[in-house]
Order: sequence, then C-alpha cells, then structure tokens
Amino acid sequence: AISEGEILGYFYSKGIKPDGVQKLSKDMVKMICSEYEVEVIDAAAVRVEEMAKKKEILDEDDLDKLEDRPPVLTIMGHVDHGKTTLLDYIRKTKVAAGEAGGITQGIGAYKVLVPIDGKQQTCVFLDTPGHEAFGAMRARGARVTDIAVIVVAADDGIRPQTTEAIAHAKAAGVPIIVAINKIDKDGANPERVLQELSSVGLMPEEWGGDTPMVKISALKGENVDDLLETIMLVAELQELKANPQRNAKGTLIEAGLDKSKGPVATFIVQNGTLKRGDVIVCGEAFGKVRALFDDKGKRVDEAGPSIPVQVIGLNNVPSAGDEFEVVGSLDVARERAESRAEEVRNERITEKAGDGKVTLSSFA
Ligand code: GTP
Ligand code: MG
Repeated sequence: AISEGEILGYFYSKGIKPDGVQKLSKDMVKMICSEYEVEVIDAAAVRVEEMAKKKEILDEDDLDKLEDRPPVLTIMGHVDHGKTTLLDYIRKTKVAAGEAGGITQGIGAYKVLVPIDGKQQTCVFLDTPGHEAFGAMRARGARVTDIAVIVVAADDGIRPQTTEAIAHAKAAGVPIIVAINKIDKDGANPERVLQELSSVGLMPEEWGGDTPMVKISALKGENVDDLLETIMLVAELQELKANPQRNAKGTLIEAGLDKSKGPVATFIVQNGTLKRGDVIVCGEAFGKVRALFDDKGKRVDEAGPSIPVQVIGLNNVPSAGDEFEVVGSLDVARERAESRAEEVRNERITEKAGDGKVTLSSFA
C-alpha cells in the first residue's frame, strides 16, 4: 500500500501542491499510477467499451460527453399474463380493453414519468405481444432494452412464451426482473411460480438468488409501486449513459404505411439527438425527417437518447429491426440505402441458390 504522505510527497516533488483532502484529477491519478507502476483502468472508458460491445452505438468521441439517459424496459411474457394491463396501470390508460381479441399485435413504446422518492423519473417501456406468432417482436424488444420485465400470471405459471422471453433476455445479456401477476385471483399461487422460475435458472432474491421478483396485481395496482422501485434500482446500477450532443443513431421498432402521412417509422434513439430536418438512412429506406411525434402523438422538434419517436419523411417503409443513422446529406443517404438494397438482393439470390432452386424470377 502507498501512504497518503508518499503521494503528497510525490506531487510536491513535481511542483504540484494538492490542497489537503482534495480530489485528484484524472491526470494526477495517471501520474501517480505510472510512478508506482500501477495499471490505470479508466472506469468510464471500460463502461463505454462494455456498452459499445453490447449495443455498438457509443464510440470514443462520446466519452467525455456522456449524460444519464432514461432506462428502456421491455415487458415480455406469455399471452394474456397481463403485460398491457400492467402498462395501463402505470400509464393510467386503458389500452388492453380496446385491443382486438384482447391480444397485443405490435410493439408499443411509451415514455412514462415514474414518481420515485418524490421525484419524477423518466422511463421508457416497450410492450410486446405474448402470442406465440410474434416471437420476432419479442426478440427485437429484448435487443433494444436495458432491462427485461418478465410477467408471469400467478394462476397459470411458466408457459412456453415465458421461457422464450427469458431466453431472449438472456441472449441480449440484460438483467431480468420478474413480475408475478394476478395475485388477486382465486387460484393464484405465487410460491409455485417462484419454484418454477428457480427450476429454469432464475433464482429469486428472497431465496438468496439474484433475480428480483415482485408479486403484483396489475389490475388492482397492488405492489406496482414496489415493482417500479425495483426497476429504478436495477436501472441505476447499470449507469445508463449516452451522448445527446451528436447525430442520432438508434433502432427501428415498428413501421407502416399511413394513408395520409405516408411511411411512418417508430424509432428508439439510442445515442445522440434526432431532430426535425435531419437526413436519416434506415436499412433500404432514407429521407429527410419532416415531422417527429412523441408517444402521445404530439409533434416534437427532437428526441434524445432512449426516447421513442415516430418519424415521417422516409421514402419507403423500412424493415423492423433495422438500425437508423443520421447522415450528412440526401446523396449520402440514397447511396447507403441503395447499397443496402443491393446487399439484401444478393443475400436473397444466395439463399435461393442454396436451395438449388434458382429461376429467372429469382433475379427480378
Ligand atoms: P398479450 O399482449 O396478448 O400477450 O396479453 P397481455 O399479457 O398484454 O395481457 P392483458 O394485459 O391483455 O390481460 C389479459 C387479461 O388478464 C385481461 O382480461 C386483464 O384484465 C386480465 N388481467 C391482467 N392483469 C390482471 C390481474 O392482475 N388480475 C386479474 N384478476 N386479471 C388481470
Ligand atoms: Mg398485451
């Protein structure tokens, strides 16, 4: 160990006079570490590296401009286990009641203010469908999220899409929080659900494991506050950061064709700030952002990190899961979109050739 006196002595010898119990600057730490041959690990740089590995969105230029960003949470689980009802309770809406056949068929992205310790904190929630047909959407939801919230109905237990959702979250390397829902129902057996979860490798915290599990009733709102608090705690530990002062990058959540607006695309901005007038390229689509709408359909001028935003101005409908990026000019955007289109065409041809079923129309 190196004593405080030694460190002070070192700085004095270099003509630097630290003022008692002050903090050491980064450069001072580097100096002292090289003097004593200790390896310097820049925690911020390591974090950026880790984040970059996971999401490939932050780069070195962002290092000294990082700011906190809201957590992106994806709600996943088996059909009818209460995902949309939970979000309705949190958002004070009634989306679930209006859904065709009572099932969610797309990804909803919502910005929510959560009151924690008397302060309003922003969270972004993605609602995913639980029906087995929508596995691709669950996978996509897991890829853009910081934390997966797995909803399991206490009267039904682990079902196929519960297991699938857990697998997506694990593949994405994100922390998992379990909401054991419908505890108000006759026949609810939350203890059995804990048992089942532990048998698929999710050990509850209350049994000494590391997966937080909260027993709730989304319908009645029981313990939803506890769940939100748990979510914010896990989010805080992740130290989520981004650099809002640069051109935006992010992921397409959903896209479609609107009769009056033309191609509309919902993005989650993952780094930078997306602004009206920006030129973007997203897969094979590109265009100038003509208007931006927030999750409530209100026109906005820009959207920063973690924020979901609907964009109009693209020349056609991009494919879900594509990434978007702001580029310098429409010419650059067109070029990129065209070369992406070419790549996709080539992939298709190779796929078909692989089948041994190449026909003239394969090349059309
Ligand atoms: P998909 O999106 O189709 O996968 O379903 P979901 O998981 O979003 O379920 P949804 O929120 O649509 O709820 C399904 C049904 O369960 C609805 O009738 C809800 O009212 C009911 N439900 C949800 N949460 C609770 C709860 O905590 N208690 C009770 N009793 N019913 C609930
Ligand atoms: Mg739903």
